[in-house]
Amino acid sequence: MSLLQRILPRGLYGRAALILLAPIVTIQLVFSLEFIQRQYEDVTHQMTQGVAIDLAYLLARVEESPSPDIALAEIEPVAEELEIKLTIPAGADFPEIDKMAWIDLSATTIIATLRERLAGLQAVDLTGDGKIVHLRFASRHGSVGVELSRKRMSATNPHQLLVLMIVTSILMAVIAYVFLRSQLRPITKLAQAAEEFGKGRRVAYRPRGAVEVRAAGRAFLDMRDRLERQIEQRTLMLSGVSHDLRTPLTRLRLGLALLPEDAETLSLQRDVTDMERMVEEFLAFARGDAMEEATAVDAVSLAQDILSRSGGEARLAEVIGVPEQVVLRPQAVGRALENLLQNANRYGKTVELRLEFQDHALCFRVEDDGPGIPTEARSEALKPFARLDRSRDPNRGGGVGLGLSIAADIARSHGGALGLWESTRLGGLRADLVVAR
Ligand SMILES: Nc1ncnc2c1ncn2[C@@H]1O[C@H](COP(=O)(O)OP(=O)(O)OP(=O)(O)O)[C@@H](O)[C@H]1O
Ligand SMILES: [Mg+2]
Repeated sequence: MSLLQRILPRGLYGRAALILLAPIVTIQLVFSLEFIQRQYEDVTHQMTQGVAIDLAYLLARVEESPSPDIALAEIEPVAEELEIKLTIPAGADFPEIDKMAWIDLSATTIIATLRERLAGLQAVDLTGDGKIVHLRFASRHGSVGVELSRKRMSATNPHQLLVLMIVTSILMAVIAYVFLRSQLRPITKLAQAAEEFGKGRRVAYRPRGAVEVRAAGRAFLDMRDRLERQIEQRTLMLSGVSHDLRTPLTRLRLGLALLPEDAETLSLQRDVTDMERMVEEFLAFARGDAMEEATAVDAVSLAQDILSRSGGEARLAEVIGVPEQVVLRPQAVGRALENLLQNANRYGKTVELRLEFQDHALCFRVEDDGPGIPTEARSEALKPFARLDRSRDPNRGGGVGLGLSIAADIARSHGGALGLWESTRLGGLRADLVVAR
């Protein structure tokens, strides 16, 4: 997995949110920061220019006056009107060098604008208490101190816009999320229905949401119906054929019983017995799959039932994990397990069954101490009508070769699989029948 795939959210919600929100938020942030910064600078510049004009006028009057005292007396009333306070000579309150706070977006603009307009400006102090700015000027009568409010030079609360933007962004994101969720829910629902169907369960599902999702939903419903029809047809055909074969077979058996008992008749009788067993197996297969409803069952007692029915020495060796009710089709799973136990009993002496309850699956593990199946023959053994040991030992009463493929089919229809391995415990075959839960 690449780094990008690992950091990107995996769910549809996360991805949709990322695709929709990330670019918008980024663009908004970049543009508004840039906009605020510029706007703020321009406003500060213009306001400071206004102040600078007032100051230039007052300072010119100071220069004109014959003495500082006269200057003060004459200018004070005007300065008061302009909300500016003059001090001549400037005391220790007034700065020798420029001072500004750490974070002060408009400070540089203010100082630059003042310098540009006022030749006599010596230093500016923007750090004063109560938003008062102190300035020191040089004049004919020595240093002149000026005090005025910071409010006259830069806009107050420039962050209001930012706060407003963030608050509305969050609000809109929440609304978008709610809408997105209602758009994405149909997709999750469709995925759920498809997953359940894969496990052989039919859940109610109705196509909803956007046109595309609805189309996918309808396609799924069509597919589900088609599959169900096919299974039904297969079942009907199998059971029909098997059922109809039974009667002529019984007639054959009766006819053979009337013939003299020679080698030929005996072999014919064996053939008839074989055919009967095949027909029985087909019938059982067809019956088992015939749309049995999935129910919640106690898997341990199901396994015990099958064990006692299967005869032989097989025993339930171990239950791993926490035993819980599992939703499955008991007859079908029972038949699959029966087939595995039958094989194990046929080829081995010791047979052990283990049940393993995993997070999302239940595993029936059948192990025996027989010859096992060589690795390369395992996929062959799973195919219908595959009998590997036909030449090995015909007296072991080999069947039709359907047992494993039926078991695999049942596992698949439960969202699981049938795995064949070598048993490390007993040395023979280990068959894992896994069903989803
Ligand atoms: N436990 C086992 N040990 C060794 N070989 C096995 C075992 N189980 C199955 N096999 C081999 O796999 C083949 C296929 O098994 P499968 O159960 O599908 O058919 P079958 O047992 O011959 O017939 P059926 O189960 O239909 O009566 C068997 O013929 C046998 O050769
Ligand atoms: Mg078998």
